[in-house]
Amino acid sequence: VLPLLALVFTLSACGEKTAETSAAKPAEQAASAPATVIAAGGHPGQAIHDANCISCHDSGVYTRADRKMTNLEMLTGQVRRCDANLGTKLFDEDLDSVTAFLNETYYKFPK
Ligand code: HEC
Repeated sequence: VLPLLALVFTLSACGEKTAETSAAKPAEQAASAPATVIAAGGHPGQAIHDANCISCHDSGVYTRADRKMTNLEMLTGQVRRCDANLGTKLFDEDLDSVTAFLNETYYKFPK
């Protein structure tokens, strides 16, 4: 019985140690998670955009001299059209977030 008790004690001691170590580093973990870039001042739509929308064109299409979007409705429609070309269909709220990111960052159409 004694070696078994010792083993249980060792294991539980180990478990506590791990829990302490990970609890001590929430900031470090948060920094490595892309979603928390929001806290650093980025737009929530930016991460979604950067992960999905720069395979065919980069952000240069939003700022080029002959860009095609002239209002927010058009932009909303284009984001949806482009998303339809993507294999991974984004959720409505993600599309809204990406549209808001593009508008606030590049187009600046009145809402
Ligand atoms: C399958 C390829 C493809 C993907 C993926 C794609 N796009 Fe596009 N996108 C295009 C093409 C092609 C155009 C038109 C370029 C042109 O007119 O020269 C375009 C144009 C645009 C424009 C209009 C630019 C202007 O002229 O003002 C916006 C806005 C846009 N895309 C947003 C997005 C967003 C947001 C995503 C991610 C959800 C995305 N695109 C992903 C192909 C793609």
